[in-house]
Amino acid sequence: RCSVSTGPCFWGYRFWTHSQASPHRWMRQALPTAAAVADLFPPPPDLASKAHVTSQDEYERMYRQSIEDPDAFWGDQASSYHWETPWSTPIVDYNFDVRKGPVQITWFPGARTNLCYNAVDRHVLAGDGDKVAFLWEGNDPGVSSAMTYRQVQEQVCRLANWMKSVGVGKGDDVTIYMPMTPELPIAMLACARIGAVHSVVFAGFSAASLSSRMLDSSAKLVVTSSGVRRGPKVLNLKQIVDEAIALCAAKGHDVGTVLVEDHQTALNRSDVPFTPSRDVWWHDALAPQPAECPVLWLDSEEPSFKLYTSGSTGTPKAVQHSIGGYMVGSGATFKYVFDYRPGDVYWCTADCGWITGHSYVTYGPMFNGATQVLFEGVPTYPDAGRMWEIVDKYNVSLFYTAPTAIRALMAKGDEQVKKYSRQSLRLLGTVGEPINPEAWRWYHEVIGDSRCPIVDTYWQTETGAHVLAPLPGATALKPGSATFPFFGVQPVVLDDNGNELEGPATGVLAMKAPWPSIMRTVSGNQQRFEETYFSLFKGYYFSGDGCRRDEDGYMWITGRVDDVINNSGHRIGTAEVESALITHPAVAEAAVVPVPHDIKGQGIYAFVTLMQEHAYPPEEALKKELIATVRSTIGPIATPDNIHWAPGLPKTRSGKIMRRILRKIASLEESQLGDVSTLADPSVVETLLSTRGV
Ligand code: PRX
Repeated sequence: RCSVSTGPCFWGYRFWTHSQASPHRWMRQALPTAAAVADLFPPPPDLASKAHVTSQDEYERMYRQSIEDPDAFWGDQASSYHWETPWSTPIVDYNFDVRKGPVQITWFPGARTNLCYNAVDRHVLAGDGDKVAFLWEGNDPGVSSAMTYRQVQEQVCRLANWMKSVGVGKGDDVTIYMPMTPELPIAMLACARIGAVHSVVFAGFSAASLSSRMLDSSAKLVVTSSGVRRGPKVLNLKQIVDEAIALCAAKGHDVGTVLVEDHQTALNRSDVPFTPSRDVWWHDALAPQPAECPVLWLDSEEPSFKLYTSGSTGTPKAVQHSIGGYMVGSGATFKYVFDYRPGDVYWCTADCGWITGHSYVTYGPMFNGATQVLFEGVPTYPDAGRMWEIVDKYNVSLFYTAPTAIRALMAKGDEQVKKYSRQSLRLLGTVGEPINPEAWRWYHEVIGDSRCPIVDTYWQTETGAHVLAPLPGATALKPGSATFPFFGVQPVVLDDNGNELEGPATGVLAMKAPWPSIMRTVSGNQQRFEETYFSLFKGYYFSGDGCRRDEDGYMWITGRVDDVINNSGHRIGTAEVESALITHPAVAEAAVVPVPHDIKGQGIYAFVTLMQEHAYPPEEALKKELIATVRSTIGPIATPDNIHWAPGLPKTRSGKIMRRILRKIASLEESQLGDVSTLADPSVVETLLSTRGV
């Protein structure tokens, strides 16, 4: 058994400068320069004085306790929740080192609890049943509704009872493919109540992507919706589900039951394909069910949910999360990073199809009994003022979105923002990708009227909750930096050989011990879990991101160091797009790389080599066909931004594609191509450079 390290934390020098200095630690020698001071945004004093954590000193003291005495620190955090059976100590047990045996992580050993009980029942029992849980805002202005915690409880119970009646129980997989309506978190919570494992698939993925996820998790039940409206578009989700089920059937997997929410503002019932022997309307299923359903108490380490995410190789992985650790981690980060207080109205614009919608829509806020806005639509419909209209309508105080949305709205100008008051806002957050300082400043000055701190939260599907983030009452902000680790997180900057770097340094980001909400395995594939996250740097969890730590200890994420593209905050594996492209009969080979993109952060740039019979450049129509192929194989989120016809690709003599060179060609960084003389055929680089943009 390993215990959490009690050594100095990675930016220990900040502590040591005002506690006992460690002689072998790097220490800050010089005062910050004038330029650095100008870039610091200290916490607003009125917010800081009332915050959960009121100063950097207090943060550092709490952080130190979270590492040195996890039993006390996390025991205290966990005491906010109901545990049917308490945990034993030590509160954490783990092995991160593959050389010593299988990677394993246990938090709250022996404890039993239930996520749904803690997100819903606990508040109703405490007398907060009439508090609004969801303020739902539909795609079209004027379409909205509200739901209290008690109403959520009733719906969850009816659904859980119905699920049991169709044979779904503990450990069974349920696929959820729904738009952002209250029924989506309700479906997740109903699974949690009875120990079923939900797998939410973003309702923008294609039938092929949905079916591969359903097959991988052998889903017996799919919960879906008739359709969704996003901006001016209507999507017939049930039709996509039917196609996915047919694809599963062709591979021998039978999906027994489909529950269909009748989303009438999106689609008429008559437009929805329906197979009575298999499909059930949500309302018909729930109406006869009892409004009470006992909670199933589950072991802290049993699986709560799986969520598929892209990596550098192979098909998307099913990241599996825990119960006790996930609850305490998502709940504590919500409380501290957003400085949540009763009375706040919180709005996270993420969809529950992504981890952000799991931890910061369904779970974290509800563990804290928050009132939150759920929005079905898109930021620019009917116009670019929609977000701020909603902020004013519901007096939103905590607002959380992605840099890509900020950049898209920034490009539309300030007028649509200034039309609305936004006076209710007291905190802004970002997630999903590095935020460029220009967008940060616009968010701060124009959206937040220079009044609201911005919490830049760095985390991943795998981390379950924020791992680097400022605390708004404590941390002086630097635009573009996710600042410092959350409690319990021990980040290190490693060089290529896996050595921990001290002081200001650039390298890759890894963690040397588990925090409560870290993923527990890749569902059904422990080997892939260990190979992906624990093999390259032995003894560490490897994030896949590059990072820089500056002279003040602030962390700056520099982006993925593997073959993953961060496109509008969505993770897209280059290998997935390549596999999709080569399914087209005209394509012989494809290589996909990221390219800087003003709005999306990174665009998807595809080099495509055609079968011999095709001439270059081919007809324009082929480009459209290839784009359609990717959209139908993965989904519109993976649409390539560029297709570059490539009669040849730069390869080593052993046939390996030199992606480094392709990245430079795509990004128009010709001067940084480096040595191309080792290529099997250096002339292909010339050809590609001369055809860029053709
Ligand atoms: O590259 C990092 C980037 O998003 C990746 C995780 O993607 P995903 O699992 O889809 O989760 C997104 C929402 C948590 C990371 O490996 N990323 C996420 N947040 C930030 C970020 N990059 C820089 N700054 C962030 N705040």
